[in-house]
Amino acid sequence: MIHQAAASAPGKIILSGEHFVVHGSLAVAAAINKRVRVSVREIDPRERSRIVSSNIRSSFDIDDGSFVAVKTVARNILAKSPKESRSFEVSISSEIPAGSGLGSSAAVSVASVAALSRFLGLPLDLRTISQEAFAGEKRVHGNPSGLDIQASVSGGLILFDRKSGPTDIPVPKSFSLIVIFSGKKRSTSRLIAKVARRRQKYPNYFAQLVKSASFIGQEVVKAATSKDIDRLGSLFTAAQAQLSWINVSTPHLDDLIERISGKNVLGSKLTGAGGGGSVIVATRPEVIDVVLKSSLEHYPYSFITEIPQEGLRWEESKIS
Ligand code: MEV
Repeated sequence: MIHQAAASAPGKIILSGEHFVVHGSLAVAAAINKRVRVSVREIDPRERSRIVSSNIRSSFDIDDGSFVAVKTVARNILAKSPKESRSFEVSISSEIPAGSGLGSSAAVSVASVAALSRFLGLPLDLRTISQEAFAGEKRVHGNPSGLDIQASVSGGLILFDRKSGPTDIPVPKSFSLIVIFSGKKRSTSRLIAKVARRRQKYPNYFAQLVKSASFIGQEVVKAATSKDIDRLGSLFTAAQAQLSWINVSTPHLDDLIERISGKNVLGSKLTGAGGGGSVIVATRPEVIDVVLKSSLEHYPYSFITEIPQEGLRWEESKIS
């Protein structure tokens, strides 16, 4: 019997197609070098099973609005293991700020499913792990596409659409982007709902934007696989214009993009749901450190991520 298990999953950036992917377009996403680690350990059976994360703690059987995704995935997985009667503690530690648009909630769901299923001795394959994690994501985000979950499970660079799911894009040589968290947290579900209202108001124009987002996605794949950072930069700028039109950029994000723009920046865009959150920036490799340094002066959570990165990983579990 397994007494403890652990897994980690990466956050993600979206290179193109966020929001439009919910309405059928292609999107391109990549795992980043920031991860969430979830460990599960058996505790005294007289105690109630619980979840802990930094200074928050909650019991599984209490719906207090905390850890909604983890509780959802845990209940579903426990239902697959009806004889299970042990009490356990799920402990979450994350390098990704919540609400930053960098996929922390998807990574928490993915790593939780993986760690819990191993703890319970259930052999889940990656496809089932994605499905279970998606159930948690839906409870939190309402109508997500599944893109964040797929990027976190498979890692690397993926092309995704809701009908066909993910396609891995082999990146022959790695390349790096800068990621900048604006410091403003936001709610993905509210932004998804806001975009749906925009679509209702302008259905024809919105449909054109969905097509155009798919085109940008295919071009992003070509630019990324040929490591054409100049082209990637201009595609980011084109994608950002579309995102501004659907009102998910904000004056604060526009200021950030304006502030970091200059001769060293080839293009930038918000990444994720917008409304705050983070921005990704394309620069030539020889000046990437210079751009990062100037970003760090204003935005302390700025970093460089290389692409590709590893997806879901089972970890050595140790009791802390
Ligand atoms: C959020 O990271 C990405 C969105 O496109 C929502 C989704 O695809 O689920 C805004």
